[in-house]
Amino acid sequence: MKILVVGSGGREHAIVWKIAQSKKAEKIYCAPGNAGISELAECVDIKAMDFKALADFAEEKKIDLTVVGPDDPLVAGIVDVFEERGLRVFGPRKNAAILEGSKAFSKDLMKKYNIPTAAYEVFDKAEDAIKYLETADYPIVLKADGLALGKGVLICNTKEEAIAGVKELMTDKAFGSAGDRIVVEEFLIGKEASVLSFVDGKTVKLMADARDWKRAKDNDEGLNTGGMGNVSPNPFYTKEIDEFCKEHVYQRTVDAMAAEGREFKGVIFFGLILTANGPKVLEFNARFGDPETQVVLPRMENDIVDVFEACIDGKLDEIDLKFKEDAAQVVILASDGYPEKYEKGKEIKGFENFKGKDGYYCFHAGTKFADGKVVTNGGRVLGITALGKTPEEARANAYKATEWIEFENKYMRHDIGL
Ligand code: AMP
Ligand code: GLY
Repeated sequence: MKILVVGSGGREHAIVWKIAQSKKAEKIYCAPGNAGISELAECVDIKAMDFKALADFAEEKKIDLTVVGPDDPLVAGIVDVFEERGLRVFGPRKNAAILEGSKAFSKDLMKKYNIPTAAYEVFDKAEDAIKYLETADYPIVLKADGLALGKGVLICNTKEEAIAGVKELMTDKAFGSAGDRIVVEEFLIGKEASVLSFVDGKTVKLMADARDWKRAKDNDEGLNTGGMGNVSPNPFYTKEIDEFCKEHVYQRTVDAMAAEGREFKGVIFFGLILTANGPKVLEFNARFGDPETQVVLPRMENDIVDVFEACIDGKLDEIDLKFKEDAAQVVILASDGYPEKYEKGKEIKGFENFKGKDGYYCFHAGTKFADGKVVTNGGRVLGITALGKTPEEARANAYKATEWIEFENKYMRHDIGL
């Protein structure tokens, strides 16, 4: 098969790497891809949001399957465009990707179908939100309804902070139209868990669970990021929690979407918080997580192309998803300053250290070629993943491998997995 992957981050490198092991994959393309991906796939310079050019390319090259990585194209309806042109594609349609694309939609869905989540209110007008905040309990959480590069969530400790937050989101439009509507939500306390699943419209099958380290700095200080590291399995995601969520969250979400006429095919990423009153859903993502994918796929034993096809064909019940017992950890090497200001274009050295080393992976996130050298090209630059017999071994291995790579302004957290 000829397979096209859309996207350019560490998630897409991990997906391409996994597809490359498939017996079915004869040729892989990635649009736009990055320096690391280009070792496994032919990178084509088409942006993930240029649906027409992507579909033209898929037609011209007779692509058998397209896999979409990022949220933006999914929420904007790339799958519908491909399907209308008779092209086979893995991912939710626009009317299902709204599960991630609108927090108000997902909250209302959870309320209607009794899926455990934080108490909330939705506001379309800043003055109504401010009136509500006058008498609310604190801390409280404000969320822009739409996609905001993972930055549209504000945790406010006081009324003053919350009112300033409403102004930022709704009046000053810090995230554009994503803040036309906001969700104001009860603040919950607990450990978080990332649970990714494959969905074929009816059946949901869970991947290995993971835990994300979101803050930029050690000890969970600094700003929220897309994720600075991850481990799989998640030590806090117990058997009891898994059973509870199987009964109250996973299948119920898939059934709810079907009942709403929004059949979901693709990946649902359940962002959970494990509170003293049981697990609750913080958010849904309609795609693979990043960097979650960089620890989950190295543990997966199945041929991923079989799984993609089963999801598209509604035959996921025939797949037995299998994951290695080994633990995995990824540590993100970032450009110092991320998620705010940082410099790009720094030469990266040391990739040869990964050659021939089983269980060590260097996934590229923000890299490109310049004058024949690989240089930094983003905030999150590389994801260094390692496997181990135990979580401790995976952590030691991942941190050892972070030393194999050098670039100016290299930055990482030192407490991932602790
Ligand atoms: P979200 O994009 O909705 O997952 O929010 C991003 C991050 O903000 C989450 O991973 C949590 O760390 C935090 N967060 C979101 N909602 C809440 C909440 N209701 N209570 C506490 N923390 C939250
Ligand atoms: N690491 C969290 C996400 O992919 O949204």
